[in-house]
Amino acid sequence: MMKAIETKDLTKIYGGHLKAVDALNIDVEEGEIYGLLGPNGAGKTTTIKMLTTSTPPTSGTAKVAGYDIIRESLKVRREIGVVPQDLTADEDLKGYENLMMVSQFYDIPTAKARETIERLLGLVDLKEAADRYVRGYSGGMRKRLELIIGLVHDPKILFLDEPTLGLDVTTRSQMWDYVRQIQEKLNVTIILTSHYLEEVDALADRISIIDHGKVLVTGTSNELKAKLKGDIIQMTFRTQGDEDTIKKYPNFIEIKDNGPNSVRMKVQNSDEELPDIIKYISENKLAVTKMTVQKPSLDEVFLEYTGKDIRVEESPGDFRKTMFNMRRVRK
Ligand SMILES: Nc1ncnc2c1ncn2[C@@H]1O[C@H](COP(=O)(O)OP(=O)(O)OP(=O)(O)O)[C@@H](O)[C@H]1O
Ligand SMILES: [Mg+2]
Repeated sequence: MMKAIETKDLTKIYGGHLKAVDALNIDVEEGEIYGLLGPNGAGKTTTIKMLTTSTPPTSGTAKVAGYDIIRESLKVRREIGVVPQDLTADEDLKGYENLMMVSQFYDIPTAKARETIERLLGLVDLKEAADRYVRGYSGGMRKRLELIIGLVHDPKILFLDEPTLGLDVTTRSQMWDYVRQIQEKLNVTIILTSHYLEEVDALADRISIIDHGKVLVTGTSNELKAKLKGDIIQMTFRTQGDEDTIKKYPNFIEIKDNGPNSVRMKVQNSDEELPDIIKYISENKLAVTKMTVQKPSLDEVFLEYTGKDIRVEESPGDFRKTMFNMRRVRK
């Protein structure tokens, strides 16, 4: 089967030295949702820009929908829809007018455009709002409109650059439902970027973690989690010294002190090990005041591969950047 997207050592160097994308190799299967996960500045948007032919690579190649992004860029453009990181809808137009304008840009006959737009509005629950000015839309409505603007010409592949940036948690998870609906009902291949772990975990069939323009690891979210060995058990004891006793339990694969009277341990499989650990606690009369068991999450996968916590990248700086981007587009 043809791949929806295939890149070969795709590279972008800005200003002669800044390697924004560094010999990137990914393949995206037809019909899948593929997630590029990485912190600010990882090279996600630059990758999308090259794949959507809005900026040429410095070196390397890529095929999108079977066409070369450099030699056949016009053919590529016909097959793809793009929802950029910055908002693009015209605030001084109504939702419907925005969609119609883009349809005209693609030379879609009016009757066909009307039909498609109706369907798309229905898919993202914007029928009621279609005749209102975009400036009055909430953040979530606005993102939903952006999403379907990328779909009016019936593309095979949809690029979503940070589809939920700047939305609150609830609105974000609603947006995930809409993205899934669209993938199922319209049968498009979707490639999305995000710096939210929960987002790629919830949406993507496969994920590449990227940082400094390089792919660090690729797999399904379960595969990535499985690469981390062990479940984490944390225990706190009432009596000092108890933590030394628990450390002697034979099957821990990793042990770390974790504050006063508290230890953090890893076991291969907590489901199998817990009954024995509890027996050990009781036999040794250890006074446990707190105990938590944690299966590996994508957060830890990220930490493991990038050496930093992705949440650090989501701090106020990022929020300011988001606001800045929004203002810039509104002007
Ligand atoms: N037009 C440009 N000129 C020069 N440098 C650029 C340009 N666009 C991006 N960069 C730099 O390239 C690197 C990758 O940027 P890019 O926007 O691709 O990252 P990103 O992963 O999309 O980040 P974010 O999460 O902030 O959207 C960054 O260091 C950025 O500053
Ligand atoms: Mg970006």
